[in-house]
Amino acid sequence: MDIATLYTFLYTLWAVPTVLFSGAGRSSTGISQFEVHSLPNTAQLPPSWAGQLPVPETEEGNALFFWLFETEDTAYDENLIIWFNGGPGCSSLIGLTTGTGPVLLNGTSTQLVRNPHSWTKLGHVLYVDQPAGTGFSTASIPYPVQDQDRATDDFYRWLKSFLTRFSHLRSKRVHLIGESYAGIYIPYLAAAILDNNDTFPIDLRSISLGDATIGNPAAMSAATIAPYLRAQRDLLHMSDEIIDAFTEAEHTCGYDNLLRDANHFPPKGKLHIPGNHENLNFRRDRQQPPSQLLREEVHRRGLGTLYNETCDIHPTTKETVLASILNSTCNGPCATFATAINYLNTAAETSSTNKTEPPDTENQACFDIYDISNDCNTIDPLPLQATYFSRPDVQKALNLPPPPEGTTREYSPCNKTILDTLLAEQPTPPAYNILPRIATTHNLPVHVYSGEYDMLINHIGTELALQNMSWKGALGFSRPLNSSIFYADATAGSGPAGSGCGDGGGESSCEEAGTWVSERGVSYHLFHGAGHTVFAKKSREMFAYVRDVVVAG
Ligand SMILES: *[C@@H]1O[C@H](CO)[C@@H](O)[C@H](O)[C@H]1NC(C)=O
Ligand SMILES: *[C@@H]1O[C@H](CO)[C@@H](O)[C@H](O)[C@H]1NC(C)=O
Ligand SMILES: *[C@@H]1O[C@H](CO)[C@@H](O)[C@H](O)[C@H]1NC(C)=O
Ligand SMILES: *[C@@H]1O[C@H](CO)[C@@H](O)[C@H](O)[C@H]1NC(C)=O
Ligand SMILES: *[C@@H]1O[C@H](CO)[C@@H](O)[C@H](O)[C@H]1NC(C)=O
Ligand SMILES: *[C@@H]1O[C@H](CO)[C@@H](O)[C@H](O)[C@H]1NC(C)=O
Ligand SMILES: *[C@@H]1O[C@H](CO)[C@@H](O)[C@H](O)[C@H]1NC(C)=O
Ligand SMILES: *[C@@H]1O[C@H](CO)[C@@H](O)[C@H](O)[C@H]1NC(C)=O
Repeated sequence: MDIATLYTFLYTLWAVPTVLFSGAGRSSTGISQFEVHSLPNTAQLPPSWAGQLPVPETEEGNALFFWLFETEDTAYDENLIIWFNGGPGCSSLIGLTTGTGPVLLNGTSTQLVRNPHSWTKLGHVLYVDQPAGTGFSTASIPYPVQDQDRATDDFYRWLKSFLTRFSHLRSKRVHLIGESYAGIYIPYLAAAILDNNDTFPIDLRSISLGDATIGNPAAMSAATIAPYLRAQRDLLHMSDEIIDAFTEAEHTCGYDNLLRDANHFPPKGKLHIPGNHENLNFRRDRQQPPSQLLREEVHRRGLGTLYNETCDIHPTTKETVLASILNSTCNGPCATFATAINYLNTAAETSSTNKTEPPDTENQACFDIYDISNDCNTIDPLPLQATYFSRPDVQKALNLPPPPEGTTREYSPCNKTILDTLLAEQPTPPAYNILPRIATTHNLPVHVYSGEYDMLINHIGTELALQNMSWKGALGFSRPLNSSIFYADATAGSGPAGSGCGDGGGESSCEEAGTWVSERGVSYHLFHGAGHTVFAKKSREMFAYVRDVVVAG
């Protein structure tokens, strides 16, 4: 034991005896100020550390909020899982309290209860609010993060500083997992970590992207929405006539040829989007009119006004659907995605405004693009979460500095300024060059997954993006994405998310969780029965996935 280690040992012993005895933070100095001792209205937590740490070498005022949990199972002590919510500009506390972390919001109360499927049983888990200004993180003025390069640089610099302070985590196997816009955050961050490994080694072991923005937005939305609607027509209560309109438009727009080409295993060549200039349809979508429900949704998520208020299209018939897709000056040509949203919102509004009784769950009275199986009775955890984390006693427990005298600190799960800023300058989709390089040059496992009921980032679009991606000398997967099923309770180590049912687990352990394919270091899993946030609806299945696919690799 050298002097430095001895000093660290004594310091730790003196400063944080409880932490020492719980086995954590053995060699980290100066972290006791971040200890979370207890949290109001919460079940017992595993040892954890939270607070703000500055982003080094940037303007005064940029500090990222983190919450680190110690692993609850020493068998998984070697893993450090870092979770990212998307947005851009949404807090990672969303994922923490809705299915990945040790505590969960219980129903409509702001009581946090233990999550039996917490990822803290699979490693140390770190949640960070990033980029600067997200959640409990702070930003300098004027807002400094104007593009993804800056977001990546900031987070990478911050991570080095964090690992220097929490030095007992320096040698852990790092797994980056996130959802939605984290499909951009994570590949760019992984590239920064790998490219700088010589100067600051980080043992990065995998990246996992769920319902994520990995491909061309037009291909992931407009080009793939018709087959998605056909597959989910019952859940969406769509008539033959309306489905026919989408199928007809799909042919007119040439999307059927694209889908046919994508359905070759392996694909014959790169997939061409007909008559479309990359992201244009996506941009148009963002300028289309909000329905009342969508407006409320946007307001509820703290996103302000997202859409062009001057257009107001409410297609309800085959003719108006076709006109909206093909002829609308608001949406531009071939606006299948925008039209599908307008149609479903209009249908939901009509059926809910005509009702005097409480919403009928049998009826599609509420349309949730994040999870089409949700209905009006589905509880939205975000307002509850905002209430809980806006409490001064909770903020104090998380080691946040007190707000200026006489003021309060409102916590918003998502930040519109950040969303608008980063979406205005979208980077090239990472599947074009970053993901191929990560998988090929760095030989890092890349995992992609989707929830079947997510219509915002539908799984057919994700599958198409993967079929258009080249890695390790070939394009896409060589066999269909539905070639196998997996089970939630497969024993660890039995192959990608369970090649079979575990022995003696009874009937329930044999429930089919989804389908998967894995080739040349890239895996894809499709989860049944879950929407945009798979971890929230299917936390048991997601836990098995993290255990058997992500950290086992
Ligand atoms: C969740 O809340 C319900 C109703 O308030 C309560 O009965 C139940 O015990 C709570 N669950 C946990 C795990 O605390
Ligand atoms: C969002 O971030 C911006 C830039 O840091 C900040 O000015 C604004 O107050 C934030 N909004 C919310 C609702 O937190
Ligand atoms: C990073 O550097 C470490 C130590 O030099 C090395 O063991 C590891 O293989 C490197 N990782 C990658 C992905 O290159
Ligand atoms: C396929 O990738 C190329 C870039 O490699 C891109 O130009 C094209 O738009 C992509 N096609 C689809 C359908 O995403
Ligand atoms: C689109 O507009 C053209 C010209 O006004 C018209 O002939 C055509 O019928 C319209 N198509 C649809 C589907 O509304
Ligand atoms: C909104 O749509 C109207 C009607 O098509 C168009 O004239 C206007 O430029 C759009 N506004 C924005 C901000 O895109
Ligand atoms: C709802 O009410 C409107 C206006 O009264 C009517 O036009 C529409 O057909 C009704 N829709 C349903 C589904 O009953
Ligand atoms: C798998 O996909 C193929 C072609 O896409 C389809 O014909 C087949 O029915 C699918 N199999 C299952 C089990 O879903």
